[in-house]
Amino acid sequence: MNTVLDSSLDPLLDPSRYYSLVNWHTANREISAKIITELMYEELLNPEIVDNHYTLNFEPNIRYSFEVKNRHYFNFYRVVSASLTCFIDDKETPSIDAYHLIGCINKHLNVQPDTQAHAIREFSNTLLGDMHQLGSKRLSNAELLQQDEITIESQLVAHPWIIANKGRLGFSYQDYIHHAPEMGNTVNLLWLAVDKKHAQFNAIAALNYTQLINEELSASDRARFDALIASKGQTPSHYFYMPVHPWQWNNEIVSLFTPDIVNMNIILLGESHDTYQPQQSIRTLSNKTSPKKRYVKMPISILNTSVYRGLPSERVKVAPFLSDWLLNLVEKDDFLRNKTKLILLGEIASINFDHPIYSTMSNIPYQFNEKLAVIWRESIHTKIEAAERCIPLSSLMHRDVNNESFLKAIIDASGLTTQQWINQFLKAMLEPLLHMLYKYGFVFSPHGQNAMIILKDNIPTRLAVKDFVDDANLCVDPLEEHDSLPDELEDILEYIEGPILIQWIQSGLFVCVFRYLTEILEDDFNYSSDLFWESVYLTIRQYQQGFPELEERFDAFDLMRPVFPKLCLNRVRLLDDGYKDKTERPTAAVASMLQNPLFIAAQKYQQQEQEQEKNLQPSPYETV
Ligand SMILES: Nc1ncnc2c1ncn2[C@@H]1O[C@H](COP(=O)(O)OP(=O)(O)OP(=O)(O)O)[C@@H](O)[C@H]1O
Ligand SMILES: [Mg+2]
Repeated sequence: MNTVLDSSLDPLLDPSRYYSLVNWHTANREISAKIITELMYEELLNPEIVDNHYTLNFEPNIRYSFEVKNRHYFNFYRVVSASLTCFIDDKETPSIDAYHLIGCINKHLNVQPDTQAHAIREFSNTLLGDMHQLGSKRLSNAELLQQDEITIESQLVAHPWIIANKGRLGFSYQDYIHHAPEMGNTVNLLWLAVDKKHAQFNAIAALNYTQLINEELSASDRARFDALIASKGQTPSHYFYMPVHPWQWNNEIVSLFTPDIVNMNIILLGESHDTYQPQQSIRTLSNKTSPKKRYVKMPISILNTSVYRGLPSERVKVAPFLSDWLLNLVEKDDFLRNKTKLILLGEIASINFDHPIYSTMSNIPYQFNEKLAVIWRESIHTKIEAAERCIPLSSLMHRDVNNESFLKAIIDASGLTTQQWINQFLKAMLEPLLHMLYKYGFVFSPHGQNAMIILKDNIPTRLAVKDFVDDANLCVDPLEEHDSLPDELEDILEYIEGPILIQWIQSGLFVCVFRYLTEILEDDFNYSSDLFWESVYLTIRQYQQGFPELEERFDAFDLMRPVFPKLCLNRVRLLDDGYKDKTERPTAAVASMLQNPLFIAAQKYQQQEQEQEKNLQPSPYETV
């Protein structure tokens, strides 16, 4: 059979469907504007400014000129992409070429040659993805308002801050088409039987392995898999069944785990019947056939925005214990359970299978011990009522096929004013996060991909959060609320000083989400960022007034300080770590300090209050 001809017959894999000069130019212009915007924010590019005309001068005789929109907070300036021009020897280039810009920046910042080379691949993948997205079916807001969250996720543009946001180093073109979230394709998962002697299964107290598998695999799939094991002379009850992402099986497991496969510690069972679609995070998939079945998070050992997307064995093992602790905590807390109605998508079960050799080695790069595991996570569809729908937090920054704001469509459909909607949104979003922080010294990582907003009639009512075990952080101070933590977790969780702990809210939510949300509010609603941050301040204050007994914690986790550190995500890649293999996952770099918008809002309110108090004081003349 002629395999070249076979693959050329697959219309899915013909890139020319997406290749278009117009879209290529658009993708180049947009990413170039984003690169300059975010590298100015991270203080790596310092343009000359004359009358709101910004110029970056690069050697030899190259300059990029542009206008910006001043975003008023966080020292943040958005490059207006349509205004971006490039001059070489004083002649304007006919189009914007992102590779040219990246080349100039590499030289200017003295980026290491190996980093430069790898970065080109990350940017190439990102540009290719952007062009595909521009050439794909993009939905209008009217359509999006009718869609489920997984369809909405497939329309989003990926990480708003990281400049090479579709890097996925390790994906072939075929992988990209099949597995990238923005392609919106479904996939069947492969299932493995893993010998119980070599694998670890863990679950929350209310669940056992048999129950889980009976719920996740149909009776016919189970019977087929049991028969296959028996046909190999093995006993099905000696094995756990676990899904593996087909990419991981083909690219990592087959060759790296050959001894286990040969010895039948791992047996390939084949595909199950359900189809799955990747969420924004790529490695977590939603069940399309039965949306109430659990999400499945599996390693895909590609490098995408910051880290290799494997699953660290020690964290996989404790994920259900942490979920149990968190789910119980919410259950017992009247405010969380009845007032905020916070939804936690529990990581209710996991299986880990250590690599026989890497797991015995020390100081090797982290990604080698993250190859074969699975976490089952509760689906949002088991948590919301018929009248509710959920949208990813990141979708609030989305613009549809007509470049119109999705947020605007939601607010219009809600019948509320912008201010009313924002108040509802901030209450739903912040109150549970604040309560977890102040009462339990616990933070999630509430960035746009880890949080979902629940809407009723398009009005935000509550929050759903996910992805705990990777990013769960507790304060270092011994709070009595931590006494109930299971022993298994104590060595695994990060214990962090108060001022650092709150960075997950400051950087994860305020900078990584609200920084962009306020842009939409300014541009599409003419709603000022001052008003937005005042609303955030008032929401926090209102919460605090309801819990005077936690006052000491408001100081320990002080969200109102004048400044907080500016973390930099792109700087780490370009200058600090490059693409070097490191033992530990990279951490964000710190540039300067950011003025805290909440401090500014607090000052303003305190001043107003003092003035009001003064006005209320009886006049000395009247008392005479
Ligand atoms: N708007 C967004 N904000 C943050 N991350 C995003 C966004 N859109 C896409 N992503 C991608 O989602 C992932 C976020 O990383 P994170 O560690 O929170 O999730 P994960 O552990 O991979 O998966 P999950 O949240 O499903 O458990 C990255 O791969 C990132 O590139
Ligand atoms: Mg996540």
